[in-house]
Amino acid sequence: MHIADHQLISHKLTYLRDKRTDSPTFRRLAEELVTLLAYEATRDVRVEPFAIETPVAPTTGIKLANPKPLVVPILRAGLGMLEGMMRLLPSAEVGFLGMMRNEETLEAITYANRLPEDLSGRQCYILDPMLATGGTLVDAIRYLADRGADDITAITLLAAPEGILHVTDALKDLQVPLQLVTGAVDERLNEHGYIVPGLGDAGDRLYGVV
Ligand code: URA
Repeated sequence: MHIADHQLISHKLTYLRDKRTDSPTFRRLAEELVTLLAYEATRDVRVEPFAIETPVAPTTGIKLANPKPLVVPILRAGLGMLEGMMRLLPSAEVGFLGMMRNEETLEAITYANRLPEDLSGRQCYILDPMLATGGTLVDAIRYLADRGADDITAITLLAAPEGILHVTDALKDLQVPLQLVTGAVDERLNEHGYIVPGLGDAGDRLYGVV
């Protein structure tokens, strides 16, 4: 678990939380925040040696290893994090997972999937702005691990303590290294499963109420 501890991230999160922030500004801030979080989340991205010549001398650097990382935004709100992530990892591939929560049971339902069947050897980065109850994230992580992903990082803008506990507990038996990177851990969930103080419904604030 990595909680970003950076004044610039806290500054941008404050504007993101503010209910007066309009959708265009919210989208721009979400992208900027993801780029900052992605810098931390990709610290251990897989690389391989790469021999080059500078104008002065031959040397060996590194480049991203193959297969390239797979970025998986959880539809719909995770889409608002995609551009910010791809800015840092432009050669990554993107798979989509559509999940929503049943507002009564708060359980996650998968309604769309555009992912390679075989994820063997893939390093995967899940994008979902809010780690609230953790139900969606647990399902998404299992989905990827069942298809062979062998290293999974989830990037969220905000997390609730209850969600972190649920993910940790529900995935105790996971055989795959798992990393959670978040911009902040808030106080709690309210009775509707919203993060407090949070930022409201991330999908609605990004794209409007539909
Ligand atoms: N999903 C959201 O968009 N916001 C919350 O606070 C919790 C879940």
